[in-house]
Amino acid sequence: MPKEDAAQPEFWEKRFREKFTPWDAGGVPSALEQFLKTEPRGQRVLVPGCGSGYEVRVFAEAGFDVLAVDFADAAVERARRVLGPLSDRVRLADFFEFDFETPLDLVYERAFLCALPRRLWPRYAPRVAELLRPGGRLAGFFFFDDAGRGPPFGLKTGELEALLGERFERSVNTAVSDSIPIFSGKERWQVWSLKGTRPYPRSVALGAHPHALR
Ligand SMILES: C[S@@+](CC[C@H](N)C(=O)[O-])C[C@H]1O[C@@H](n2cnc3c(N)ncnc32)[C@H](O)[C@@H]1O
Repeated sequence: MPKEDAAQPEFWEKRFREKFTPWDAGGVPSALEQFLKTEPRGQRVLVPGCGSGYEVRVFAEAGFDVLAVDFADAAVERARRVLGPLSDRVRLADFFEFDFETPLDLVYERAFLCALPRRLWPRYAPRVAELLRPGGRLAGFFFFDDAGRGPPFGLKTGELEALLGERFERSVNTAVSDSIPIFSGKERWQVWSLKGTRPYPRSVALGAHPHALR
């Protein structure tokens, strides 16, 4: 394992503790706010790798049943401070291992896929798919960049389609105008719907959630 490995909570823990969080937008991207204006209330949404968790509040205010997870203690502490009365919506848990109550209507993406080392990317689409109800959606911001090093690990041309295309169909793909500097000109707001009418098989055995700490 490399000395510093973004697949490990310690990598992110250190950055939050040192207040080195250049990905942190300090608020909610406008494309999400626009999207929520037309969404029906009562949907169940997951925010994986939530960091400071600003979006949790706008999802809750839009009438969503929102759960956010992060596997770094310091991120969860930060999100709970940011969210105050909504702090119970945040759990310390590993997205790939937690036994979520499913099915979900929506998984929200921002700076999570690009935080994962590329060797974990093949697990992302199957995991999102198994958490969603048939027809459920993955919506959010995807980071495109040809640089090899990360995080953030950028998607190259065609790579997102290759990762998601088997299980998902894209319905929205627009440029983002209010990106923060590290993502500027390189991220797109996209919505992908799960294909098919049957649930995807679960890879996580019920009750097996070693990183579901609290
Ligand atoms: C680049 S930060 C983005 C945080 C937040 N989404 C935002 O937009 O500000 C990536 C976050 O994902 C978390 N993370 C990475 N891998 C994770 C995993 N397997 N399960 C849960 N959280 C994870 C990290 O701890 C970190 O807080």
